Amino acid sequence: MIPESFVQELLARVDIVDVVERYVPLRKAGANYSACCPFHSEKTPSFTVSPSKQFYHCFGCGAHGSAIGFMMQHAGIGFIEAVEDLASSVGLQVPHEERNRAERAKKAPLTELMARAMRFYREQLKVSEKAVDYFKRRGVSGEIAAKFGLGYAPDGWQGLEQAFPDYADQALVECGLVIVNDQGRRYDRFRDRVMFPILDQRGNVIGFGGRVIGEGEPKYLNSPETPLFEKGRELYGLPQARKAIQETNCVIVVEGYMDVVGLAQLGVENVVASLGTATTGHNIHRLLKQAGRIVFCFDRDSAGDRAARRAMENSLEHLEDGKQIDILQMPGNQDPDEYVREHGREAFDGLITAGATRLSEYLVREVRKPVGASIDQQFNLATAEGRAQLVQEAKPLLQRISAPILRVQITKAVADLARVSQAELEAECGLKPLTRGRHAPAQTKQRPAPSSVEHKLLEILLHKPEWSARLPLNLIDPELIESAALTAIADAIEHGELPSGGFGLMLEFFRGTPHEALIAEIVASMVDEVDLGALEAVFNDAIAHLRQVAISLEIKRLSDRAKGGLSLEDRQRLTELLAQKRSAGPSAGGGAV
Ligand code: UTP
Ligand code: MN
Repeated sequence: MIPESFVQELLARVDIVDVVERYVPLRKAGANYSACCPFHSEKTPSFTVSPSKQFYHCFGCGAHGSAIGFMMQHAGIGFIEAVEDLASSVGLQVPHEERNRAERAKKAPLTELMARAMRFYREQLKVSEKAVDYFKRRGVSGEIAAKFGLGYAPDGWQGLEQAFPDYADQALVECGLVIVNDQGRRYDRFRDRVMFPILDQRGNVIGFGGRVIGEGEPKYLNSPETPLFEKGRELYGLPQARKAIQETNCVIVVEGYMDVVGLAQLGVENVVASLGTATTGHNIHRLLKQAGRIVFCFDRDSAGDRAARRAMENSLEHLEDGKQIDILQMPGNQDPDEYVREHGREAFDGLITAGATRLSEYLVREVRKPVGASIDQQFNLATAEGRAQLVQEAKPLLQRISAPILRVQITKAVADLARVSQAELEAECGLKPLTRGRHAPAQTKQRPAPSSVEHKLLEILLHKPEWSARLPLNLIDPELIESAALTAIADAIEHGELPSGGFGLMLEFFRGTPHEALIAEIVASMVDEVDLGALEAVFNDAIAHLRQVAISLEIKRLSDRAKGGLSLEDRQRLTELLAQKRSAGPSAGGGAV
């Protein structure tokens, strides 16, 4: 983590015009600079850089951001790298937050131990006939074994003593290699198993899976959760698959270690495994950054069916229009490893190309029956009741879909099945219909998009954060304000955290929050200079409006309560409020009540 304050300091120090100019020749155009957009091909310049707002925006393709965002997008690098790059260009040293430095220092010796254990297991594989035979029988070549760092944990209670003279080192317990029993005896977790090291993105060994040779329980033993290894975060085989994922723009997600190894053996290299757990939203989000298509492969058994369903649910919030997620249910009773060995690589490629079901189609199929039920328990869509059940099944799923166009498509399909209109289904699910204009992006969490007044306020505050002092904070109440972004801004203002000094800063402040997209969208719509006089009037109107809404809300609360009889105090308050409401006049009216 880089401290927020440093990001602000950095953006105050660099000039976005200089940064962009290093890569793109700029021409002065009024207060701004313009160029042909480096992010899409065009003949007439629609790319604008604003020095006053420290912000770039392309009217053609919509690209926009701060100096940091530009570096990330243009050089294809990550946030930290972009910050480091910019910092060095202005001679600043990037401070990394203390907590993290301490954490990293603490982790370093653990990864060192894990790497040493991997080397030991690999050495042991070379001298174990039994383990070598096992891999040979399963068709794993020496080359693939080396690529995945496969090894063998010898039989015996303290095999690791050979690699770690200080076997009593507590760090061995901490990283899950050694177990201490109730009597205080120490012994190796992995004994007489073939070993699959699990690497993180950067290639550090963070855990192991160990398989029994032949039959035995448990079939696979995995590292426990440790400071290095957090299940649900990591995917097996990711560093080895990265290049192939890039080349094919597609990533195949399978269930098991041996599926990854077996497919790689036959040349299918863009494969990772979810390690028997559900593929988490975190995994999906990360994979979609690396590839345009994800294909989930599941065995055709009840565990596979459940995993498919979970993968579908966890995908909904990460869907993007233009990206594709498919679900492949393996034919027969074979897992991908067995399938590719029996039928060959081309047959497997064929499945990936033509045998998978689109997520949308899978979803529509799923909602025709209760969750977890088999296909012969489908709702009777010939009856009104059956169709209503279908809608209830679909509702929570539709609400989670983040990709606006795809959501409309799926909503249409479900509406057709349920014999309701698309608008009726959208209303039932609290979904905003897709409209042209700037609210098109879906609001996934049932929260409606900000009202036009709130939108205006957001615009103004992003433009003039210092005006926030004039905003009565009691008005920014989550019950009054539908826009979570506005409450977040108000919150930041209240805590004196909101940076002033341009849109770039503001964007960075909201990076990684749920409001990032909305803020970026608003900022992008304001690159042109605005008339401050007009802004002032709009601001005052917006506040008056909010005040009115607040009054109406309180009146409503009181009159709801009135059914049970009002206290004298309540009655006085009500009279007061009604008077306030009248005196504010009709122009500021139009509240919620
Ligand atoms: P499978 O039982 O499908 O095993 O478990 P597999 O991958 O086909 O393994 P082989 O071919 O028999 O060697 C799928 C995944 O579930 C996890 C492992 O990650 C495994 O690869 N698993 C399974 C465990 O963690 N523990 C177990 O006991 C079984
Ligand atoms: Mn298998």
